[in-house]
Formats: sequence, C-alpha cells, structure tokens
Amino acid sequence: MEIRKIIRVEETESTNLLALELGTNGAAAGTVIVAETQTSGRGRLNREWYSPPGTGLYFSLILFPKLIAADLPKITLAAGVAVCEVIESEYQLVPGIKWPNDLLLDGKKIGGILCETGPVRGDQLSRDTLVVLGVGINVSIPEVDFPNVLRNKATSLQAYSGKKYAKESLFEAILVNLETNIVLLEQGKFEKILEKWRTRDALKEKILSWLDPAGNVVTGEALGIDDYGQYHIRDAQGAVHQVLSGDISPAES
Ligand code: BTN
Repeated sequence: MEIRKIIRVEETESTNLLALELGTNGAAAGTVIVAETQTSGRGRLNREWYSPPGTGLYFSLILFPKLIAADLPKITLAAGVAVCEVIESEYQLVPGIKWPNDLLLDGKKIGGILCETGPVRGDQLSRDTLVVLGVGINVSIPEVDFPNVLRNKATSLQAYSGKKYAKESLFEAILVNLETNIVLLEQGKFEKILEKWRTRDALKEKILSWLDPAGNVVTGEALGIDDYGQYHIRDAQGAVHQVLSGDISPAES
C-alpha cells in the first residue's frame, strides 16, 4: 500500500462517502480525499462528525487491503495508533484511545477513525474489498464552538495545548504512519499494533458500562483488548463479556 494520489476538495458531504463512490468506480488503493469542510461528516454509530471549515483535518484513504474480512476491524486500531504516534512525536501530547476509535486528550475527544467497507471487486482468483479509512482531527477548533452535545466532551489540539498546529504537516506525517501500520497488518504483524494500542487504552482499569445487543446494561471492570482487538469487560459476578458493538464508557459514579 502506497499513497498514490491526493484529491483536495473545498467542501463535500463526507470524505468517506466520496471515497466510497470513487473506490467503487475504479479509484486505486492509496487515493486520499481531503476536504476543508464536510456538510455531513460521519461518525461511528450514525453520529455526525462536526467538521467546520479550516480548523479540522478531514480525510479518507481508499484501501483494498490484503486482509481477510475478519481482520478488517484491525485497521481501525492500527489507524488510531498511527495518528496518536504522530501527535505525540510532533507535538509532545500523549493521546489515549477509547475503544475502538476515539482519540482523547484527558478524556476529551480530539479525533476519531471511521472505517467503512464497500463492494468486493475482482474475480475468484483475486478478490479485494474496498475499505475507506476516514480520519477526523480537531486541529484548532475553539472549545466554545463545539455544538452543545459535544461541549465538555471534545477539544482540539490547539485549544488543549495553546499551541498552533500546521495542518498540512500533520496530514503528511499521519499518511506516512498510516501506510506503515497498514503494511504491518498486511504482513500479519498485528501484535506490534496491539502492543502499542494497549499502552494507550484510555479505559484501562476503569469501571465501564456497556449496552449489550440484547439491550441490557453490563457494568464491569475493563480488561482491555484481546489478541484479535476485541474489548472485554468482567462484571461483578465474574462473567467476562466480549464487547461486540456499540459504545463502552466509564460508568457514572
Ligand atoms: C468517530 O469518532 O465516530 C469517527 C469520526 C470519523 C470522522 C472522519 S472525518 C473524515 C471522514 N469522513 C467522514 O464522514 N468521517 C470521517
């Protein structure tokens, strides 16, 4: 996987949506779509991603990864680590990750990753699934500008640190790191990602609550991710639950 082409747009609904369209219509792996603003940026669980012009980084990378379907969720974890490492090395901030994709500074969200899959292409000998890897980073959005639902929950690199950030060099460094981590995955070296992800686990040792698929609230201790990247919680009775979908959050005290 190599970054091949960067397509810049002023405004789009969602770079993920555009990348899914382009990827379905022949765009090559390694094509990146970056927008100054999104009118309908997408977050996980059908949430909206606040994407004001100029103050955030919003891009999507088209992939046809050499991975089996069961391994595709690992891309989100690998991307989270890649972005955190750039923020840490370039700006001396140490972001944590709330499973699977929230990038946090002191519990406040500064970025997120959204992987979406498109159609499979190719024939029986070589089949590839389109994966769009979307990254959103709050670079210099003032905290007061966030919509009410995000107030106290989100911040930006600049609001948090008081320093100014060069969006373009952040973008370039992240692309390099993403490429490295995706190659690691394709080489079957997920353990290298796991090791790094675990050091950034923002929920480690916390008491969490999770709404399971049956609609029950499971409360228990965070056990972290297993070797496949799935999160586990141990409830008060000692039963271990594998988090299959939805959100896990620190339980209200
Ligand atoms: C999340 O935290 O729920 C994921 C947020 C992902 C946002 C990015 S911004 C660029 C790309 N295009 C989208 O519509 N979403 C992702």
